[in-house]
Amino acid sequence: MTASAERTAGNMAQGLDGQDDLTNNLAKLAVVVLAAGKGSRMRSQLPKVLHQVIGEPMLFHVLRQVTALGVPPERTVIVIGNGAEQVREALVGRGAYLFAEQTEQLGTAHAVQQAEHLLAVTAEHVLVLYGDGPLVRAASLRGLTVKHFETRPLVTLVTATTPDPTGYGRIFRDPNSGAFHSIVEEADLSLAQRDIKEFNAGIYIYRAKWLWPALRRVTPSSKGEYYLTDLAQFATQTATLPADDANHKGSHDPALPSPVETIWMDADDIRGINDRAQLAEVDAILRRRLVLQHQLNGVTINDPATVYISADTEIGPDSQIEPNTHLRGHCRIGANCVIGPNTVLENAIVGDNCQVIASFVEAATLENRVIVGPMAHIRPGCYLEHDVQIGNFAEANRSYIGHTSRQHHFSYLGDATLGEDVNIGAGTITANYDGKNKHKTRIGPHAFIGSDTILRAPVEIGASAATGAGAVVTHNVPAHTTVVGVPARPIGK
Ligand code: UD1
Ligand code: CA
Repeated sequence: MTASAERTAGNMAQGLDGQDDLTNNLAKLAVVVLAAGKGSRMRSQLPKVLHQVIGEPMLFHVLRQVTALGVPPERTVIVIGNGAEQVREALVGRGAYLFAEQTEQLGTAHAVQQAEHLLAVTAEHVLVLYGDGPLVRAASLRGLTVKHFETRPLVTLVTATTPDPTGYGRIFRDPNSGAFHSIVEEADLSLAQRDIKEFNAGIYIYRAKWLWPALRRVTPSSKGEYYLTDLAQFATQTATLPADDANHKGSHDPALPSPVETIWMDADDIRGINDRAQLAEVDAILRRRLVLQHQLNGVTINDPATVYISADTEIGPDSQIEPNTHLRGHCRIGANCVIGPNTVLENAIVGDNCQVIASFVEAATLENRVIVGPMAHIRPGCYLEHDVQIGNFAEANRSYIGHTSRQHHFSYLGDATLGEDVNIGAGTITANYDGKNKHKTRIGPHAFIGSDTILRAPVEIGASAATGAGAVVTHNVPAHTTVVGVPARPIGK
């Protein structure tokens, strides 16, 4: 491997001359993300780039890294084809991306060509990457960018090595000098050549002026596709670099940079997804990365393999995420919490010192020191004030529960508002639905709802009121009053 190949993308990012240089260079850069392919090996109705890893379409992960690199959506072209409408739709509201349609998928070179009319005038350099490689990191793209602008070849391409590069295009180098020679796709390799472990990541930066004409020179491969990978070899055969670039005339001079530069990235950062087995592998890597980040931030996660955390989740220090726990969507969890085992939180906000055990919480807020579970279901629109306890097969839906109130044992609260320090007895039900409409139940502070009470909504229970076991409450109960029976009647204060 050449010295240049040994300089990794990560190192390059650290070796910045100055942030200003990078910012200037990034302004000359446009991005093309290829996302038109069939993804036939996925065997799916859904376009490949919309298949999810850690809870989001893989394309979103790629685009997030591009934005983090510093190229805005207005200079990012997404080449769409298969499921074009679905991809467009998925991106609505995510930024002013440019779209180029590739109506026939004739190969990766043909795909890049579709972006020419959008970028020919504006972009001096073009970063091309594939929408099916969601492991790429902004830091590595930055390393690639820095190297490209430092060395100014016609093309800088990313390579990686792995013990089993099956399926990837392999990198051929001059055995003596180690200089880049060409990329050969798997199908065109001899058996012996399959042993080559260095492969093409599918991430490149081209000089735009050279790129667009070069694309027109690509001829169909043995498979009948126009391969983008041919460009790197074209570049090595280019005797003179474009005349407008005074520094690069006469590239035969060994003191001058080569027309192709390569930069190495970790194989785990660039794995492409072609089938569902790889989808699961990539998902696991992304998941592990996120878990690691949280661990380094002070979160205890002892069984990372069974913990699923979305990219959009925040967790406070000294919290503990127990096995078989899924944190989906946008979750915010405070400090010193224990979440899990066997818990699903979806778009949940959880305060400090909470516990959620073997339960499902959706789009709800838990204030500090709330205990949920085991086996509770907190449904959308619930707000649990501090020190609330809910557990043992209890369900709450669209309900506000005042602080220190308790709902244990087989009960249902729907469209209910509870004051502080309310006790909900075992088996209590708010009958909030009359077959047509939902109605509200209000329960005042310090009320005591006896076991197996049915509260037929709309109904109001006054402060410090009580219901007897098995009461069916059909009328409002004044404060400090106890009601019993079916239908419930007051028996005194
Ligand atoms: C490609 C590279 C290979 C590299 C590998 C890295 C080529 C010819 N080969 O192979 O060297 O090792 O990626 O993952 O480039 N696409 C289009 N339009 C098309 C064809 C493809 O938009 O007409 C898109 C696909 O949606 C996909 C990406 O380009 O996102 C790569 O295409 P794919 O067919 O997966 O290429 P590979 O065979 O994996
Ligand atoms: Ca691929």
